[in-house]
Amino acid sequence: MDTGNWLKTPHLFLIKFFYFSVVQKSTMKKILKFTLITLLVLVVIAGAFAAFVSIRGIPKYDTEQVAVKVISTPENIAHGQKLANMLCVHCHLDPATNKLTGRFMSEMTPEFGPVYSKNITRHPTAGIGSWTDGELFYFLRTGIRPDGQYVPPYMPKLVNISDHDMNAIIAFMRSDAPMLAPAEEEPADSKPSFLTKMLCVVAFKPFKLPAEPIQTPPIHDKVAYGKYLVTSQLTCFGCHSADFKTNDYYTPERSEGYLGGGNILLTMEGEKILSTNITMNKTDGIGNYSEDDFVKVIKSGAKPDGTTVRYPMVPYAELEDEEIRAIYAYLRSVPVIEKEQSASTR
Ligand code: HEC
Ligand code: HEC
Repeated sequence: MDTGNWLKTPHLFLIKFFYFSVVQKSTMKKILKFTLITLLVLVVIAGAFAAFVSIRGIPKYDTEQVAVKVISTPENIAHGQKLANMLCVHCHLDPATNKLTGRFMSEMTPEFGPVYSKNITRHPTAGIGSWTDGELFYFLRTGIRPDGQYVPPYMPKLVNISDHDMNAIIAFMRSDAPMLAPAEEEPADSKPSFLTKMLCVVAFKPFKLPAEPIQTPPIHDKVAYGKYLVTSQLTCFGCHSADFKTNDYYTPERSEGYLGGGNILLTMEGEKILSTNITMNKTDGIGNYSEDDFVKVIKSGAKPDGTTVRYPMVPYAELEDEEIRAIYAYLRSVPVIEKEQSASTR
């Protein structure tokens, strides 16, 4: 190094020295300090948010009073019983009490935390005997209980079911059916995991009440009636499309991989099981099912190959053949999904 130069231009040396040792170091320090403080603030905010989500739990919402006039004719109650047998009993029946007193849901994804269904007998405190018809209606459509508590998707909501069917279910819930007789037994409370609570902030939201009354299509209009069963009453599409997370519950046909299967579900033993493609694909779907094969599998669970469908596909023993034939007619009208397509949407 030519020290002579430095001596000739001492001011330059001093400026450089000052710049490198003081200005740049202190800027570096400042940048470092700033970065550290920002990081710290972010960590504190994230931590506070996580603590908030975790302590507050699943959010509550405002409820709305809805005037519902339930007509309790014997026909309505019988129809409601048929619907409840298909839509509620498998989750709420406790084999120990033989009533709808609730149970541990071993088939729920463990990541959601332990889930228990509830006592929904007519018991005034342990069950839902003190709920009004309007409160039950509002909860079943939106997922919001009378106290404002939102119930996550581990209980499916009846977003698009017709008013007639909804009224029948409520009429049945009020009836003197033995499985609804007031009983005190109560399962433990569900303990939603942090993931469930977080999903209830970012993804899972209550449903809106339908803007217009919903009619059941006439059964002789086969395709329309079958579509109603698949999308709105029995919600086959929920399990049989690509994923619960990408299902469109307001407009089911817009769900990803609509009826193409591949949704991951759990058996009672907690084993993973994929829902099947129920479009008319000949290799992957039900394209080789005759109408009679289809009636048989839906009613009894017996497949043409001699095997039986496994839980959570519960056979619909109470459906009329005519109803199942309507589902078949509708499924024939739905765009066929190829295997690759349904696999890629998984
Ligand atoms: C897939 C299982 C499942 C199905 C099907 C189901 N439920 Fe539930 N239900 C649950 C679970 C789980 C809870 C409790 C969630 C919680 O911890 O808050 C619940 C909660 C309820 C509650 C709230 C009770 C309370 O005291 O908070 C009512 C009412 C209810 N269900 C009625 C019904 C009716 C009526 C049907 C049929 C139309 C039905 N459920 C179908 C799983 C189910
Ligand atoms: C709770 C979720 C669920 C619902 C609701 C559901 N399914 Fe399924 N379904 C499944 C699963 C999972 C399988 C695969 C069972 C197996 O592999 O044993 C299946 C199998 C089937 C099969 C047999 C296909 C084959 O050849 O393997 C048919 C047909 C079927 N479902 C039609 C329907 C129809 C129609 C509805 C509505 C009326 C419906 N499912 C409702 C989950 C469901």
